[in-house]
Amino acid sequence: MSTDPTSSIPRPDANGLVHGLTIEELKLLSTSCLEARALAYCPYSLFRVGASLLIHASSPTTASTTVISGANIENASYPVGTCAERTALGTAILQGHRLGSFKAIGVATDMDDFCSPCGMCRQFIREFCGNEVPVFMHNKSGEFRVLTVGELLPMSFGPEKLPPREVLKGVVGVEQGGEGGEKIKEA
Ligand code: THU
Repeated sequence: MSTDPTSSIPRPDANGLVHGLTIEELKLLSTSCLEARALAYCPYSLFRVGASLLIHASSPTTASTTVISGANIENASYPVGTCAERTALGTAILQGHRLGSFKAIGVATDMDDFCSPCGMCRQFIREFCGNEVPVFMHNKSGEFRVLTVGELLPMSFGPEKLPPREVLKGVVGVEQGGEGGEKIKEA
């Protein structure tokens, strides 16, 4: 089923932008995540999810790529399945994209309601997208709600919260173990 997301695009701001995206970028993002639902492998839940990442034009890698998409991939061993957001981000990371590459995220389902990324995906997204990156959550008609990564995962844990390993060695106390390895000192 093709959906026309252009019918529901809100009025742009004074700069012609909607949550920082041009109308063309927004159309591309919306169309991409709605179409990506068709890629879903979801024989168990039958719940198709498409996700797309809008890449900053200035991103150093693959200049021609503007959107990278993914969909959920389920498994007969149910917990092994992967969400659409993480398949899309995994593809982008393998193409060399990192924090700073992503301008926006789009997610789409077949539901009337607006589906937000699950908790695990919010944490995964947080590693690679700054707090200000908008997440466009689409329903089946192409209408969307928008929250930023920071709004979806406030007070989040990220790489900058981890002290360097050498500092932590001093905190917990590390000694040489057998065969050249290390072990935490016994209290
Ligand atoms: N799913 C996603 O792909 N993204 C989300 O953010 C929520 C859930 C998938 C996982 C599973 O394949 C199906 O939706 C039902 O939970």
